Amino acid sequence: MIGFGTRIAIVVGVLLGVAVVFTTFGFPPVNSTQNGPRGTGMAQLGYPGALDRLKAANVLPEAQPASEPSGEKSSAVYENVQVLKDLDSNEFLRVMQAMTEWVAPQEGCAYCHEDGNLASDKPYQKIVARRMLQMTIDLNKNWSAHVAETGVTCYTCHRGNPVPAEIWFMPSPQSKMATYAGGRPDGQNAPSSSVGLTSLPANPFASYLLGNTPIRVQPDSALPKGPGASIQATEGTYGLMMHMSDALGVNCTACHNTQALKSWEQNGTIRAKAWHGIRMVRELNKDYLVPLTSTFPASRLGHEGDVAKINCATCHQGANKPLLGQSMVRDYLASLRP
Ligand code: HEC
Ligand code: HEC
Ligand code: HEC
Ligand code: HEC
Repeated sequence: MIGFGTRIAIVVGVLLGVAVVFTTFGFPPVNSTQNGPRGTGMAQLGYPGALDRLKAANVLPEAQPASEPSGEKSSAVYENVQVLKDLDSNEFLRVMQAMTEWVAPQEGCAYCHEDGNLASDKPYQKIVARRMLQMTIDLNKNWSAHVAETGVTCYTCHRGNPVPAEIWFMPSPQSKMATYAGGRPDGQNAPSSSVGLTSLPANPFASYLLGNTPIRVQPDSALPKGPGASIQATEGTYGLMMHMSDALGVNCTACHNTQALKSWEQNGTIRAKAWHGIRMVRELNKDYLVPLTSTFPASRLGHEGDVAKINCATCHQGANKPLLGQSMVRDYLASLRP
């Protein structure tokens, strides 16, 4: 005989189970896109509902109306222009309007400019923004192996926020303490959202997206000739791969035939794009963000006194191509891809 209380508990349990199934499963129809040779299971699955949410999160702001050329360079009209020197002075103001909308729509011009003195290099935001202009131009001119014709603007990362939503810092002492394995500096053994809620090393970024730690771990032969990669190094690689999959909203099969993760022959061009992406992010962090450390106020720095840095999610934000491959830079070629 089952008691009344037990029956209630069973009914509640079943209802909860049903609720979990219905709220976490994707509903048909499932669409699948083939990424590799047939029969290898290299397919990307998607649900219309999820795609709708992604589309809604990637609506572009309208481009600023075209400017009437003044015929004068901005460096001739203004006092302290160092990057956009050769730009027509009216187009220069159009870019200022766009940058305001992309980075500080709430705060306006005053976010980067001292009241009454636009030429002054205070506040710190202006110095950062000038370096960001150089970084964006560098990306569009020299990293077409990754960003292609699509390119990037400030909006790709900032999306209307002074601080981009997806950034990373060196792991904090708290996250190190949370690990029972004696505080591994990479924060392993506690589930972390940076690696898809697995207990892999929680901060693969410092090693792979700032440092040049080798990512390839599989030997060339069944019995490796040399010492080979350690298990620890392999875990680091998997942590990075979880981040990359998560940041792009894809699974491993977008880039790998999982029967041979190391093989470059068995997957298409997408993995090569990712290879360039890794090198690009390393350079952005090393050449642009880290040298700005002393420019930022302490309140913007992490526990270890380090500057906010870039990973794949900073631009991608859950889409295989940032902003679903829509190009904004084509409306700002004179300034951002000169
Ligand atoms: C996100 C930061 C940022 C915002 C917001 C911003 N600016 Fe600027 N502004 C800059 C930077 C950086 C420069 C210097 C560019 C260079 O060196 O090429 C600059 C330079 C200028 C200059 C040239 C001043 C001189 O004499 O040297 C003017 C004029 C200007 N901005 C106007 C504006 C206006 C108007 C707005 C608001 C619509 C605005 N800016 C919003 C970053 C910003
Ligand atoms: C690849 C990503 C990326 C792009 C593209 C980018 N930024 Fe940034 N930006 C960052 C990161 C990361 C930070 C550091 C966050 C922080 O402020 O702590 C940052 C910080 C800033 C800050 C300082 C904000 C603050 O309050 O501390 C300004 C201003 C800024 N960016 C302006 C720009 C402008 C203007 C452009 C386009 C010309 C641009 N950024 C393009 C990633 C990017
Ligand atoms: C966006 C593309 C992309 C996705 C998604 C991706 N990888 Fe990778 N993976 C790469 C690239 C690129 C490399 C090589 C990196 C390098 O050489 O710098 C690599 C390397 C590897 C390696 C090392 C191979 C070797 O030669 O030793 C393993 C293992 C691996 N990935 C596993 C995975 C797993 C597991 C997933 C899913 C959780 C995954 N990858 C998702 C692009 C991707
Ligand atoms: C500065 C912004 C930015 C960052 C950071 C970035 N990407 Fe990208 N990525 C882009 C743009 C823009 C495209 C679209 C290029 C195009 O239209 O073909 C792209 C495309 C890709 C593609 C091709 C997708 C497809 O379906 O064709 C892959 C794979 C990719 N990125 C992987 C990565 C990985 C992995 C990282 C981190 C190591 C990364 N990206 C970081 C801007 C970025």
